[in-house]
Amino acid sequence: MFSPQGPTLRELAVQALSSVERGYDLLAPKFDQTPFRTPDVLLGAVAEALRPMGPFGRGLDLCCGTGAGIGVLRRVCEGDVVGVDLSAGMLARARAAHPEAGVHLVRADALALPVAGLGAFDVAVSFGSFGHFLPRQRPALFAQAYAALRPGGRFVFPVGAPPRVGSRWYWALWGFDAAMRVRNAVWRPPFVMYYRTFPLPEVREDLRRAGFAVETVALDAVGRRPDGSPRCRLVVARRPG
Ligand SMILES: C[S@@+](CC[C@H](N)C(=O)[O-])C[C@H]1O[C@@H](n2cnc3c(N)ncnc32)[C@H](O)[C@@H]1O
Repeated sequence: MFSPQGPTLRELAVQALSSVERGYDLLAPKFDQTPFRTPDVLLGAVAEALRPMGPFGRGLDLCCGTGAGIGVLRRVCEGDVVGVDLSAGMLARARAAHPEAGVHLVRADALALPVAGLGAFDVAVSFGSFGHFLPRQRPALFAQAYAALRPGGRFVFPVGAPPRVGSRWYWALWGFDAAMRVRNAVWRPPFVMYYRTFPLPEVREDLRRAGFAVETVALDAVGRRPDGSPRCRLVVARRPG
């Protein structure tokens, strides 16, 4: 699963017993060598799907990590790009990957964005981070994305198809989430990271309640499942106006 340059099992265990912020600070130097970084094929597919909706002015990457989504925004935005993340360690790697003048990196909680950024963006993206939010936090998270966008702006993110019930991946993700629930019941600080807490129907409903008009686009570049359904869809949530 990991390359020889990636974190050791011991390093991962120490990170998983830390808070989310501290865990990512520790993981940051090796994060790009882990499967947790959004793969380039998905980033490319999202950029291609976004292109006909643009060009965009200013772009925001929520939970930007080492900057995977910042690269996408640089391809589709004509204005400045802002990456927000909790972890100073991850932001330092993002800065190294994107030294360009038009890229701004802000240490902040996506649930409490700095007021200065609100209402200013034409597009907001987020990759690989929703497992860090509990379902009950989704309304607050989506409200922040809504407030960050100008009227007519879009909040866009990919959502993978859930694994078939009973498949190897289904049980692997079920087992991971169960282990994290046990970990969080007995250990402090908590490390919120679950794979099965972001089902598309509920996400659509929460986005709608936050005020967005929602559509989804199949990301065919990522492939289709044996039954012909897309492996991954792009959620495009538009702030009316
Ligand atoms: C799995 S990484 C994904 C990074 C990047 N978006 C990517 O796709 O490669 C999750 C990121 O979310 C950040 N994160 C988690 N909770 C956050 C929060 N409440 N506010 C801001 N960032 C958060 C972590 O610090 C970490 O950098």
